[in-house]
Amino acid sequence: MSWDETVAQIMTATSEAGQYRAPRDLVCGTPHTKLAATSKDMINFASNDYLGLSQHPALRRAAIAAIERNGTGSGSARLIVGSRPTHTQLERRLARWRCAESAVLFSTGYTANLGAISTIGRHASAVLSDELNHASIIDGCRLSKGRTIVYRHCDLADLDSKLAAVGPQALVVTDTVFSMDGDIAPVHDLAAICARHHALLILDDAHMVFEKGLTGELDCPTLRVGTLSKTVGCIGGYVCGPATYIDVLVNKARPYIFTTAGTPAATAAAIAAIDILEESEGEQLKETLRSNIDQVRPGHPSPIIPIILGDEDRAVAVSSGLQRMGILVPAIRPPTVAPGTSRLRLTVSAAHTPGDMTRLLSALEAVDVDAT
Ligand SMILES: Cc1ncc(COP(=O)(O)O)c(C=O)c1O
Repeated sequence: MSWDETVAQIMTATSEAGQYRAPRDLVCGTPHTKLAATSKDMINFASNDYLGLSQHPALRRAAIAAIERNGTGSGSARLIVGSRPTHTQLERRLARWRCAESAVLFSTGYTANLGAISTIGRHASAVLSDELNHASIIDGCRLSKGRTIVYRHCDLADLDSKLAAVGPQALVVTDTVFSMDGDIAPVHDLAAICARHHALLILDDAHMVFEKGLTGELDCPTLRVGTLSKTVGCIGGYVCGPATYIDVLVNKARPYIFTTAGTPAATAAAIAAIDILEESEGEQLKETLRSNIDQVRPGHPSPIIPIILGDEDRAVAVSSGLQRMGILVPAIRPPTVAPGTSRLRLTVSAAHTPGDMTRLLSALEAVDVDAT
């Protein structure tokens, strides 16, 4: 078969499985947006910009000033000539904000997981990974070239017995907030089990906004991976933890070493975001977000609210019905989630107004969906 035929066959199979996808442009990413193709006004309930910081005037100003000062690109990897004072400053701020000894930046949250897990996992007796971990964790496990063992979702007994079987020096890796279900990992219990088995824990905080139950002193050595693309409203990833471990990543992690340093604009904007997160404005934004979540599903622990509909066609039909009413909530289907668990993945933000929340709730009622 020729390459052209192979490529055509891949796309035919994708379309026949109902899995063909293409990006659709929004004129801007704020909750109030338009579909570029139709100019239809939409309220976006699908973004990970949980505090609305991507549109904050202080971040915009910081990005523009950094471009004026340093230009648009860094021109090289950090260890060659790409490092700027803003990169080092952001790493210090991240370490302070996350109460860690040290931090290192990566281009994205995706590459931060690749870098941390592949580099550390290479020295592990085995890598144990929660069955619902994000794709970037799964790919990090693959790149570590070691034995990966999947444990049942948040199942402490299953993890305990699997760790007992592999012996000491294992690596355990988990999302702290799971990206398709919005539930949270039992972080302190996981750390206690890791301590008992002399395992290292890597936590992916990509979707963490509220720290309740997820932070504080842990019993075992821990690295925390984060992203600047969601709560922080920019782009980039980081790993923070003990300085010696971070030094290992700086010296050995290929996704850190062999790629160009982040843009001055995004780096400076992230510093401005951390300024806000460390001040009372950050707390106020989190309170607004908390209240918006509670209007949809009282007490739910994160801004990711899955509405499980089961059937793929129903999920697509409900998502289209909402879109006709100007509400953007994507349908998530296999292979992203398990067969029979197709869903709407609804995310709320501090930037949604009371009027947006009212429109969402009446639209859900109109399509006969109970989100509580
Ligand atoms: C749990 C999790 N980890 C990591 C990432 C990757 O982060 P980024 O988008 O910054 O590459 C994502 C992205 O959606 C995620 O959901």
